[in-house]
Amino acid sequence: MREPPRPRTIIEPFKIKVVEPLAIRSRPEREGFLARAGWNLFQVPSESVTFDFLTDSGTSAMSAAQWGAMMVADESYAGSRSFARFEAAVRKLTGYPHVIPTHQGRAAERLLFSLLIRPGCAVPSNNHFDTTRANIEQLGGEAVDLVVAEGRDPASRHPFKGNVDLARLDRFCAENRARIPLGMLTITNNTGGGQPVSLANLHGASEVYRRHGIPFVLDACRFAENSYLVKLREDGQGGRSPREIARETFELADGCLVSAKKDGLVNIGGFLALRDDRWVERARSLLILTEGFPTYGGLAARDLEALAVGLEEVLDERYLDYRLAVTRYLAEGLNRAGIPTVQPPGGHAVYVDARALLPHVPPERFPGQALACEMYLAEGIRACEIGSVMFGRNEGGSFRPAAMELVRLAIPRRVYTQSHVDYVIEGMAGIAARIGELRGLRLVRDPPYLRHFTASFEPV
Ligand code: F0G
Repeated sequence: MREPPRPRTIIEPFKIKVVEPLAIRSRPEREGFLARAGWNLFQVPSESVTFDFLTDSGTSAMSAAQWGAMMVADESYAGSRSFARFEAAVRKLTGYPHVIPTHQGRAAERLLFSLLIRPGCAVPSNNHFDTTRANIEQLGGEAVDLVVAEGRDPASRHPFKGNVDLARLDRFCAENRARIPLGMLTITNNTGGGQPVSLANLHGASEVYRRHGIPFVLDACRFAENSYLVKLREDGQGGRSPREIARETFELADGCLVSAKKDGLVNIGGFLALRDDRWVERARSLLILTEGFPTYGGLAARDLEALAVGLEEVLDERYLDYRLAVTRYLAEGLNRAGIPTVQPPGGHAVYVDARALLPHVPPERFPGQALACEMYLAEGIRACEIGSVMFGRNEGGSFRPAAMELVRLAIPRRVYTQSHVDYVIEGMAGIAARIGELRGLRLVRDPPYLRHFTASFEPV
């Protein structure tokens, strides 16, 4: 790793104008909430959560400039001034002339995929996020993950574990060209731990897709974090601005799907942006059918205003430096307390390796879920299990565990302070010191789809 050591305290590059009280509850109160929620953290009320690390999506704190812009929004049905401002911000960022707003990322996915994907189609990527995969599969397509081997090894310290394996990608495209309507890359690679994709790998993938005549579309929700990790970690990129790196990234592709709830620094919103016009007309017609007129696409004009400002603010170097320093600081603090995490820390989240931390809890007792529940009970921290609850299966009475047992602490943008992070590290160290006491959980209700949202458990 080439990231420089950090000599001084990390400071938030903003001061606070509006505050919201933290929900601080006692352990017995949280025990009551968790029992009523069937030991499923998606079912506990957020008022019982002190530090909410469930997701970084839609949970950002907006700036005074964003709130100010919302007040002057033009809520006209058609031709709104706010749309023009949003469209200009997306064009400036991506260079793509065609900009289609949607209410969030998966709506953009559905629009594009329903134009392109037919049963039997295949869409390669590094890793598809779950909504992307589900939208492809729903249309009868196959979502193909071709991430590099290091991306599947939690302990590997490769700086770009989001990279796609270019040799496998080339082979896959050569063997399946006729059934590939588009190729993708996810930046950063959420499924693999928020890991970045290098600019060199983006160039390589672009070249492979181009050579096979396959349109290349980025899933770019965390484009700013990816750009800053390129600046920090890739040879020859240290002197460039995140905006320059982002622009080069978008230039390599033919379009992008974006959930603006991440690096858009807004609570709702998304877009599809495209370089040429071959899909635009049909995408706009579908948009009108299910989302709204092309100058608002299911959003209020005030949301478009907030997003136009957010897309500028997120590329501020001081912000990105602070953002990635916090992620790294949290990971290093946990590691010092003996808690293993996916290495190296990525952009938006820290992933605890629950299999390594709780070797005494077998996968069928859900070590990740057991840890996440204890984090809630002991400290009011809410995190998300990404392990055998999410991906394990019961087939014909036998249990098939997930490849990894992870617990994701996704960090909302501009929400928690440095002392909050210190407090979380102290709390996690306390849990690690008595980890041997955790016995795991038994699954008592197993719904057929997306069971992590609604399954129930009880302690063993
Ligand atoms: N692509 C990626 C890489 C994502 O991380 C997400 C959402 C989406 C697409 C879909 O966007 O939620 O606006 O429809 N990820 C959230 C998360 C839910 O918690 O990681 P959306």
